[in-house]
Amino acid sequence: MSHESFPTENPAVVTCGLPYANGDLHVGHLRTYVGGDAYARALEKLGQATAFVSGSDMHGTPVAVNAWREGVSPEEFALRHHEKYAETFPEFDVEFDNYGHTREETNVELTQDFVRELDDGGHIYEKEIEVAWDPEEDQPLPDRYVEGTCPYCGEHARGDECDEGCGRHLEPGEIENPTSVITGNPAEYRTREHEFLRLSEFQDYLGEFIDRLDGTANARNQPREWIEGELQDWCITRDLDWGIEYPDEEDLVLYVWVDAPIEYVASTKQYSERVDTDGYDWEEVWQDEGEIVHIIGRDIIQHHTVFWPAVLHGVGYNEPRSVMASGFVNLDGKGFSTSRNRAVWADDYLDEGFDTDLYRYYVTTGTGFQQDVDFSWERFAERVNGELVGTLGNFCYRSLLFAHRNYDGTPDSEVSAEIEERIEDAIEDFGDGVDGYSVRAIGQVPVELAQFGNEYIQGHEPWKLDDPERGTVIRDCVQLVKAIAVLAEPVMPSTAERLWSQLGESGSVHDATLDAALDAPSANFDAPEELFEKIDDDRVAELNEELEAQIAAASEDGADDTADEAGSDDAAEPAVDLPALADERIGFEAFQDLDIRVGEIELAEGIEGADDLARLEVDLGVETRQVVAGIKQLHGLDELPGTRVVVLANIEKNELFGVESNGMVLAAGEDADLLTTHADSVPGTKIR
Ligand code: MSP
Ligand code: ZN
Repeated sequence: MSHESFPTENPAVVTCGLPYANGDLHVGHLRTYVGGDAYARALEKLGQATAFVSGSDMHGTPVAVNAWREGVSPEEFALRHHEKYAETFPEFDVEFDNYGHTREETNVELTQDFVRELDDGGHIYEKEIEVAWDPEEDQPLPDRYVEGTCPYCGEHARGDECDEGCGRHLEPGEIENPTSVITGNPAEYRTREHEFLRLSEFQDYLGEFIDRLDGTANARNQPREWIEGELQDWCITRDLDWGIEYPDEEDLVLYVWVDAPIEYVASTKQYSERVDTDGYDWEEVWQDEGEIVHIIGRDIIQHHTVFWPAVLHGVGYNEPRSVMASGFVNLDGKGFSTSRNRAVWADDYLDEGFDTDLYRYYVTTGTGFQQDVDFSWERFAERVNGELVGTLGNFCYRSLLFAHRNYDGTPDSEVSAEIEERIEDAIEDFGDGVDGYSVRAIGQVPVELAQFGNEYIQGHEPWKLDDPERGTVIRDCVQLVKAIAVLAEPVMPSTAERLWSQLGESGSVHDATLDAALDAPSANFDAPEELFEKIDDDRVAELNEELEAQIAAASEDGADDTADEAGSDDAAEPAVDLPALADERIGFEAFQDLDIRVGEIELAEGIEGADDLARLEVDLGVETRQVVAGIKQLHGLDELPGTRVVVLANIEKNELFGVESNGMVLAAGEDADLLTTHADSVPGTKIR
């Protein structure tokens, strides 16, 4: 996009969406935090000065309602969860430079400064509005105190967000058929005076901002519709006694989405004050020339690409360089549900005794960042056993063992030019992963290098050679292992650290920058240990049984039947008129005549004059083909590059609107639901 590539001269800040301090963390939340941690570490590897910050989101009705359900004060409730999160993150090697919370003085003061500044700039006004009210309890029902129907899509929604439908933010008074969460009564309306941010005045600015914004494509595409439509002003106060007071108005608190993102700034400030401004200057990042990277889940794109940049612009701060919005982690295609205990909890994962790197690797590299991903123990085991045990672990162990046994460490030879080049390529891929905001690409680099290493050993069979040839091959392998340790650190920090010490290196691999990948390995090291353990089928069966039992027990307890997580999707499948299955059989040979391959879309653009046709360039491994597909209105073309598809490669060539089509992309039904593969088959793989 419009920004120079990393590393830049400016300091960077990587932030993660603040977890509401209102419940346990599950592995879905961890996608944001592991993704953020890996990305921040990768920036540091490139030599980019980076602060990695977040904090707990203490305010608002997500906390107040859950505290009320538990019968404790919101303060006590939120602090308890905050402390727990601060312990859990490091257990997953998510190492924030600062992890604060939104009730800390730094954030309270900064928030009130922001609001005063917005007010002084004429960006805030007062207006009387109708707010939901519980007639029986005689109290206001802001946000999550009320549920009803989304006025935009008709789905069941919470007071301030359509969490089960279109994902929109809802303003007070917008929800239809409001019911009180406290008493279950239909809510009434009362007139109250509230403060509003003139969001509509930021329309032009936001239109330009969104074009400049880097990160994942969904973070640019999703908000466009809102920004280009009619931007409603934003109610920034609530009738609630839990939150940061609106300056000089005792009976109103700020809407939680005002003070929450300001914690990104407050947390950076706390870090900066700790290391003093020579080490890192929060004002430079936020007010001058910093690289601000926000990492969030796809449910909170609107807050980060509309409200938040408007606030930053209103107070004269710097704007985000990029927003990386991840897809959701689901179970069997359905969203996690806290109330139904349908989730894999962070604590339970740790109790199973699995190395945290296994999950870190699984969640960052399973799919592209913006795609949803299913958590399944089968798939987890499959990837651990294949990519980590079979490829990465196997290559490192056999190389270091051979080197140790025969040379007591690194053989005294020069590394060969081929290997140096291969490592340089890997470093380049790593840098491209960072610039392309792809934690997946970053995480794949060391595994691909190990795969290359395994082929290299197999191809050279050092056990059949004598010195000096044998020494050269082993020297090359040890160099590859060292490069793997350096390049694996962002996604698998503890594995990289173990490998680093097996290589006899001193210090921490965390502090090594990318050039260390090409530095000579140390002359001596001890016998290595295996990096990973295989997960066998029985273990997978056990894990599945435990998960099923956990979900079944919750449903017997009669847990709340509504999904309570954004992204949870229990909507029934739409009814489709299905034709009968074909009677006439074909022989296997007829099937074999079809050359069907895995492809990866590299480019997707519209074709002039053809409303529904897209011109695709699809990588089929052996070659890249141009294919015309009738999918333009059914897919966001921007989001297609990187998608794996299934292509009939030997269909007759065709020409549509003057564009040659050399292959056919397979898709299901009227919606052209594109076929893809379940695992990681490379482009060109034959389908049989
Ligand atoms: N407090 C707000 C964010 C404020 S940021 C200024 C919030 N909190 S949350 O606890 O609901 O979510 C915390 C993070 O976890 C968010 O980035 C959210 O998108 C992410 N996820 C929550 N559930 C998730 C999945 N099931 N899968 C992937 N990410 C998920 O939103
Ligand atoms: Zn909706």
